[in-house]
Amino acid sequence: MKVGVIGAGTMGSGIAQAFAQSAEVETVYLCDIKQEFAEGGKARIAKGLNGRVAKGKMTQEAADEIINKIQAGLNTQCVDADLIVEAALEVMGVKQKTFKELQEEIVKNPNCIYASNTSSLSITEISKPLNTPVIGMHFFNPAPVMKLVEVNAGYTTPQEDVAKVVEIAEKLGKTPVQVKEAPGFVVNRILIPMINEGIFILHEGTSSIEGIDTAMKLGANHPMGPLELGDLVGLDICLYIMETLYDETDDSKYRPCPLLRKMVRANHLGRKTGIGFYRYNEDGTKTPVDELGF
Ligand code: CAA
Repeated sequence: MKVGVIGAGTMGSGIAQAFAQSAEVETVYLCDIKQEFAEGGKARIAKGLNGRVAKGKMTQEAADEIINKIQAGLNTQCVDADLIVEAALEVMGVKQKTFKELQEEIVKNPNCIYASNTSSLSITEISKPLNTPVIGMHFFNPAPVMKLVEVNAGYTTPQEDVAKVVEIAEKLGKTPVQVKEAPGFVVNRILIPMINEGIFILHEGTSSIEGIDTAMKLGANHPMGPLELGDLVGLDICLYIMETLYDETDDSKYRPCPLLRKMVRANHLGRKTGIGFYRYNEDGTKTPVDELGF
C-alpha cells in the first residue's frame, strides 16, 4: 500500500511514522506546501527513531527501514497513492482545496481513499465540493504510540470506505472505533473541554500549574495532567476545537477560557513553540511558567 500524508507538522509526521512502521505499507509520501517543510517532518521522525536506537530500544536497521519508506516532497508526488490522509491546517477552505486538487489534478488511482485527520471539522462539509467524499481517520498524539483511530463517517461517506479504513487501522496495530459525524467526535468532545476546565481552574487561582497536573495524574490516574496535555496537543488546536464545539452547539458549556485565548494570541502554544504552561528546555526537561502568576 502507498500512503500520502498531507501536512508534515506534529500530527502529519507522527501519522507518516505510524504508517511507515507497518509491514503492509511500501511507501509513505510525506507532503507539505514547501519541500523544506516536508524534509523537516522527515528529519523530526529520524531524530525520534535515532533517539530510540541510542537507548537500545530499536536497531539502526529497523530505524533505517522506516525512514527509507518515507519520501518527503510536495502533494504532487501522490500520483499512485492508495490512501491519502490529510493532516493540514484545521481550516475548512484549505482542506476542501487540498482534496479538490488531489482528486482532480494529482492522484491517478481511481480507487484511492481520501481521509482527513481533522480533529473536529465536519467530514460532510469537507466532502461538499468533491467528486469523491472523504472519511475521517483521526489519530491521536503521539500518533506512532497511541492505539486509537476514530473512523468518522460523514453523511456521504460510502460504507465500503468505512470498512476499508477500519481494516487499514487494524493492520497498523491500532484499535479503530467507528463514530458518526458530530463536533469533536468522541475523544475531543470529552478531552478538550477537560483541558479547558483545567485552564479555568488555573485562571481562577484555585491551584498551580503543577498542582492541577499532579492532581489529575494521581487522583484520576491520567498519564498526563490537563495542562501538560494541552501543551502536547497545542493550545491553538485546543482553542480551535473549543470554538468549533461552541459554534456548532451554541452551548455555553463549551466557552473557551480567556487565559487560553490570551496564550494563543501570545503564540505560547505549548511544546511546538517551546512554551505554553511549561517552558520546554533544551535538555528535555520542563519547568512551569511562573509569569502566569500562579
Ligand atoms: N513519538 C514517538 N514515540 C513516542 C513519542 C513521540 N512523540 N512520545 C513518546 N513516545 C514513545 C516512547 O519512545 C516510548 O516508547 P518505548 O516504550 O518503546 O520506549 C513510549 O512512547 C512511552 O514513552 P515514555 O516512556 O517517554 O513516556 P510515557 O510512558 O509517559 O508515555 C505518552 C508518553 C504516551 C505521551 C503518555 O504520557 C500519554 O499517553 N499521554 C497522554 C497522551 C494523550 O492523551 N494523547 C491524546 C491527545 S488528544 C489528540 O491527539 C487528538 C486531537 O485531535 C487533539
